[in-house]
Amino acid sequence: MLKDLFIGMSQNKILNALAQKYGFKLGAQSVVAGTNIKEMIESVKELNTQGISATIDNLGEFVSDKQEAIAAKEQIIEVIEAIHDNHVDAHISLKATQLGLDIDYNFCLANLREIVAKANELNIFINFDMEDYSHLQPSFDLLDELSKDYSNIGTVIQSYFYQSEENIQKHKDYRLRIVKGAYKEPMEVAYQDKKDIDENFIKLIESHLLHGKFTSIATHDHHIINHVKKFVNEHNIAKDKFEFQMLYGFRKDLQFELAKEGYNFCTYVPFGTDWYGYFMRRLAERPQNLNLMVKQVFNKKTNTMIGIGAGAFILGRLSKKK
Ligand code: FDA
Repeated sequence: MLKDLFIGMSQNKILNALAQKYGFKLGAQSVVAGTNIKEMIESVKELNTQGISATIDNLGEFVSDKQEAIAAKEQIIEVIEAIHDNHVDAHISLKATQLGLDIDYNFCLANLREIVAKANELNIFINFDMEDYSHLQPSFDLLDELSKDYSNIGTVIQSYFYQSEENIQKHKDYRLRIVKGAYKEPMEVAYQDKKDIDENFIKLIESHLLHGKFTSIATHDHHIINHVKKFVNEHNIAKDKFEFQMLYGFRKDLQFELAKEGYNFCTYVPFGTDWYGYFMRRLAERPQNLNLMVKQVFNKKTNTMIGIGAGAFILGRLSKKK
């Protein structure tokens, strides 16, 4: 129920506009690393000092205007230059809909080509994040088209899709991030039960660790992380063949602990003003994440129930203004 509510809210344009205006006052900074490149680079430098690399997401998605998509492309190129100029250990995560996939496939391809070419010149990796099912095949097509000219690209496999096993086989020569999947998908295309999603997640991770290129295991789930630690040990998989990834602001202690244990660790660092859809999906995954926001508002520790109640109140007030 709550998952559906938050996913629905993530697509509400009026709430998005309000959130952009008031968001940072509501505590979005706990999970978003600033609104501009300078603030984001400072956050990445801090992570780097802990031995953690970063994948940077200049927030934005579902763009329906060409000028917006061109602006997003230019901003991402600025981020690539900032990574290079500041000598930080980081790469890029982007979304095809941010670069015009909903407007025109070839327009999006041209935007992506410019980004990937610039990143290639500066030896920076680009990850194509995966969005909902309707964008799945076009995103793979974009990747496969660009891979004819560039090798600094990779993508994401979502374990809730039935077809992910087939997709991971087809893309085993790419660097892949494996996740459970963040969007609401129908039972015709995706597993609905956590147990099935988790089982498939483990199957896909093991398959890419054994037969694929570099694997990024992106999860906050300690059960999965512990399973992977055991699996790589049993199969003598070297630490430079994989990394763990988590989102900025989530389970920070565990992030530092894994880096200290000598695992490659990469934090997904979103920044910018267009944070609303991203944040709503985090709430859909785990309503307790409201706690993070509420702690920022009141600047003191609250328990989970107070967090959910206060957060729901704030969100309720916002939705009444629509
Ligand atoms: P899940 O939410 O299933 O939680 C499992 C268990 O882990 C919980 O029951 C709890 O015990 C523990 N846990 C989880 N979060 C916790 C917390 N904050 N504190 C304490 N315990 C916690 N999705 C997508 O569709 N496309 C994409 O491109 C990406 N990209 C991406 C990058 C990165 C770096 C990450 C981490 C995630 C994504 N995702 C994504 C999102 C992903 O698909 C998924 O929705 C979320 O990661 C939530 O699933 P988890 O595996 O983290 O655990």
